[in-house]
This record gives sequence, C-alpha cells and structure tokens, in this order.
Amino acid sequence: MKYRELGRTGWKVSEISFGAWAIGGAWGDVDDQESLAALRAALDGGVNFFDTADVYGDGRSERLLARLKKERKENFYITTKAGRRLPKQTPEGYSRDNLTAWIERSLRNLETDAIDLLQLHCPHPDVYYRPEVFGILDELVKAGKIRHYGVSVEKVEEALKAIEFPGVQTVQIIFNIFRQRPRELFFSEARRRQVGILARVPLASGLLSGKFTRDSQFEKDDHRNFNRHGEAFDRGETFAGVDYETGLRVVEVLKPLAPKNATLAQLALRWILEFPAVTCAIPGAKRPAQVAENLAASDLKPLSQATMKKIDAVYDTEIKPLVHHYW
Ligand SMILES: NC(=O)c1ccc[n+]([C@@H]2O[C@H](COP(=O)([O-])OP(=O)(O)OC[C@H]3O[C@@H](n4cnc5c(N)ncnc54)[C@H](OP(=O)(O)O)[C@@H]3O)[C@@H](O)[C@H]2O)c1
Repeated sequence: MKYRELGRTGWKVSEISFGAWAIGGAWGDVDDQESLAALRAALDGGVNFFDTADVYGDGRSERLLARLKKERKENFYITTKAGRRLPKQTPEGYSRDNLTAWIERSLRNLETDAIDLLQLHCPHPDVYYRPEVFGILDELVKAGKIRHYGVSVEKVEEALKAIEFPGVQTVQIIFNIFRQRPRELFFSEARRRQVGILARVPLASGLLSGKFTRDSQFEKDDHRNFNRHGEAFDRGETFAGVDYETGLRVVEVLKPLAPKNATLAQLALRWILEFPAVTCAIPGAKRPAQVAENLAASDLKPLSQATMKKIDAVYDTEIKPLVHHYW
C-alpha cells in the first residue's frame, strides 16, 4: 500500500482507502460479521482511512467502525458526514443546533471524543454561499469536537466554490473512468490550494468490476434497483449516472485494457491513482475478497500512456456525450 498526503492535515492516508456505505445499508442484505471481516482485511492490507456517514444504515456503519477501533491497536482515521438527516435539503438546515446535534450523535456512534474529519454530506448548493456555516465548523474545530472538516459534493461547481473556504481540507467527489469532468479544472485548483480529494464511487457502484450482465438482479433495498433514475437521491450516485445498458456495453470494451494478471476493477482503481491530485480512492466493499482485490491496485505498475489514451478515447466517444455536462 502506498500513502498520500491528505490536504494540509499532515496525515498520510492509504491511496486505496475504504468506503463504508455498503456495510451500513442501501446495498441489499449485509451481514455484520462479514462486514467486520472486510474492515479487518482492509486494515491488514494497510488501509488507514475509512469513509462513513451518520446515515449509512442509520449509524450501523459508524458503529461497525467503532468496533474495529476497539479491537485493533493500529492508528487509523475515520471520516464521517453530516447533513443527510435533514428531511429535506435546505441551506437553513445547516444551523449551529443541527450541526452540533448531528456531530454529537456521530461521536456517540463512533465512541470517540473528536471526529477526525467531518464532511458536509452533499448539502444544498446554497450552503456554499453561507460563510457562517463554515464559521460554525471552524468553531467546532476549536472546541475539539472535530479535528478537520471537508465537503462531499455532487458537482464540480460546488467543489470549486467549497475550496474558497480556507478551512476546507478535503473534497469528496465522484471520479472514475465513467466520471471524468473533475480532472479538467477542479484537480488543478485543489492542488493549488492543497486540498485533499477523495474519489468516491470509483467502481461506478460495481459496474466497473465487469461482473454484471443484463440479467443481474439487485435486491429491493439496493439503490442499484431503486435509484437508477434518481428516484431516491441524485441519480449520479448509482452507476455514476451512466445508464445500465450503456455501462455494460462499454465495460466490455474496457476489459481487454486491464494489465496482464489484473482485473477490470483493479484497472479502474489504478486509473484513478494516475491522477496525483487525488489523495485516495474509497471503493466500497462488503467482503474480504473484494477488499483484497481492490487494495492490490495500489501495487500495480502505472498504466502505460497507450492504455490511458485508449481509456480517454472510450470515454470521449461512448460516455462523455451522455453524462459529462451534468456533474
Ligand atoms: N454522497 C456521498 O458522500 C457518497 C455517495 C456515494 C458513496 N460515497 C462513499 O464512497 C464510497 C464508494 O462508493 P460506492 O460504495 O457508492 O461505490 P463503488 O465503490 O463504486 O462500488 C462499491 C460496490 O461495488 C462492489 N465491489 C466492490 N469491490 C468489488 C470488486 N473487487 N469486484 C466486484 N465488485 C466489487 C460491491 O458491491 P456488490 O458486491 O454488492 O456488487 C461494493 O459495495 C461509499 O462506500 C461511501 O463511503 C459517498
């Protein structure tokens, strides 16, 4: 495992880290023992940074991470998120009272006195025009409730606006072979300001592992079943906003580009690591075997220029016209 500097925090985090949404909920049935085994496998493989949120399984994912913390001696960082407990996203919802209550709840779930990194969880875009919200976060840092803060965003424009606030250490954004717009302008701006980037949905919800077919079935409570068209939340969060049939077709074109002895999932993760502005990719995983496969991407050799160019060409012709302008 290799490590990269996270913003101006002074932390070095694993370039392949762990996304803990699926072990909380909204991805079909999960078993806590298996989820814990996946978390342990991540630590064993050198992961020292775990992304979760207060709403993943209504705290289930945070509580699993608290269990991991108790049973292991290694130092690792947990970043959680706040804001999605609001019944409806409004800028007013990001009040001092609400932020404090959400943070106190996460502190209890995580069984800790201070949150390593708190991210606003895809808040209403007008939040970025309310400096008072970031002022409250600065005060919560001073009070010792959170060590650092960042944001998770849907759109590049939100990311660019968010990093104008000097306290913002990190931006979490969807970035993968099917979602390339962040590399155009945002990456250079983030680097200039030394802001860390967490690349989420790196496998396009598993689509970029190449394991799905037209006949794949998803459980009722799996967002890959119920959110394909944005029925429950932003449609870009499911398969990175690429329609399923197109995704399946393009995955077949990408498969031969995987390096010898590497899987398509590893190619997809290695591709993200080719961008030095990215601090880490945070693939979700439910099982130890998935974790092991994903972490091995850090040990792959850099992709050749020829492979990078071929991936660009596939994106430009097959995916870009469909999704590039949305996020
Ligand atoms: N708004 C936000 O802030 C937000 C939104 C989305 C995600 N996130 C964060 O980003 C993380 C990553 O995104 P994501 O989990 O949505 O999507 P992802 O990482 O692209 O896909 C994860 C899913 O792909 C499958 N998978 C993982 N590794 C695999 C492998 N090697 N081979 C085959 N299948 C594999 C697993 O599901 P199956 O086994 O069921 O197929 C897994 O749950 C989340 O866990 C969460 O921490 C944040």
